[in-house]
Amino acid sequence: MSESSHGKVYRARLLFFTADPYTEGEKAWQYYEDGALWIKDGLVYQEGNATEIINTLPPEVPVHHFPNHLITPGFIDTHIHYPQTEMIAAYGAQLLDWLNTYTFPTEQKFSDPKYCTQVAKIFLDELLRNGTTTALVFGTVHPSSVDAFFHEAQRRRLRMIAGKVLMDRNAPPELCDSPAEGYTQSAELIERWHKLDRLQYAVTPRFAPTSSDQQLHKAGELLQQYPDVYLHTHLAENQKEVAWVQELFPTSRHYLDVYDQAGLLGSRSVFAHGVHLCDNACERLAQTKSAIAHCPTSNMFLGSGLINLDKLYQHGVQVAMGTDVGAGTSFSLFRTMDEAYKVQQLRGATLDPMHALYLATLGGAVALDIADKVGSLQPGWEADFVVIDLAATPLLEFRTRHCANLRELIFVLNTLADDRAIEQTYSLGRLVHERTGESVV
Ligand code: GUN
Ligand code: ZN
Repeated sequence: MSESSHGKVYRARLLFFTADPYTEGEKAWQYYEDGALWIKDGLVYQEGNATEIINTLPPEVPVHHFPNHLITPGFIDTHIHYPQTEMIAAYGAQLLDWLNTYTFPTEQKFSDPKYCTQVAKIFLDELLRNGTTTALVFGTVHPSSVDAFFHEAQRRRLRMIAGKVLMDRNAPPELCDSPAEGYTQSAELIERWHKLDRLQYAVTPRFAPTSSDQQLHKAGELLQQYPDVYLHTHLAENQKEVAWVQELFPTSRHYLDVYDQAGLLGSRSVFAHGVHLCDNACERLAQTKSAIAHCPTSNMFLGSGLINLDKLYQHGVQVAMGTDVGAGTSFSLFRTMDEAYKVQQLRGATLDPMHALYLATLGGAVALDIADKVGSLQPGWEADFVVIDLAATPLLEFRTRHCANLRELIFVLNTLADDRAIEQTYSLGRLVHERTGESVV
């Protein structure tokens, strides 16, 4: 039999979650100091102790051994803007000024389909260099931005979710659609791309200030017509934004209520930020199984505020991690977990490193309702994983040698690691990034 029918084994330290450590503690993860991951036909076939698996292995199966490396599931980024890749690190503004000064002018360039393809390629390469294998992605108002993104993601056989921005007011006219046009263009994109290979569509109103109530209701109609697509937007990121929403929608009870009235809440709805939420909003998010994408590098960069993660958990709200590039300052989920910890420190609270890693892997999959496919490495799941080099830099090599246990090792990685530690990234068992070379897809 050929090698492909037997698969391949990857031997290293192996860690993945099967539940949420915030509630389940140490039962929530599987860890093998000397582990093996047997991949066949793009899926996980077996995982466990290296000696046990290797002893029963047919001799034809190659074993790739990575001493001093850790294998985890590929990271899941639940909120990111691919058109903002070129304007990451834009100086000196908070949210509303930042949008007008930097974001809207940049997004106008995406009226050119060639430019869309150019940026989509750079963006996807950057995700894979950082070990991110699945993301929930904003396009621009232009349908061609989504066509280009999905085309490039499909070529790389990645599991990606994206959508065209809906925006019909309080933005430059070049970036505005209308409720009817936004509806039709979104429906056409859904028909073209949703569930094609590993791609899925997200209905994407930018946020309440740039959509009329009529447009938000049209977004709700799309969710009714296509019940398994996603809803992706921003929520309660910045105090001035929250006050503006109250002015624009004077009869709404709170910010989330604007979306709720339009029928936008549900188990496939992801709201970025949620930094400034009242108890009623948290309760409603929990009741509807809607998720918050926590984007700490963005919240710090734009001075948006310090999220209370414990409050969200106490209400039973689903939480996951987002980079929010380009307001976020890194594509790396390591850098994001680092900043998430510091945000809680500034509040006098904490974030357990195992919990942070859960949020960046299985927690993301739960928020995206794909926690039977990616985010873990259980048999039958898609083989999206990363090989992390514990000695990627002299400092990492020295510091990881002095870790007493797994929690300390993960905390050190969360705090110190970045793209340099991603030795290899695999999607469906295929190598899609290798640190030493250029993009391999
Ligand atoms: N709110 C509305 N649009 C945006 C955006 O592009 N980035 C962030 N961080 N917040 C937003
Ligand atoms: Zn955003």
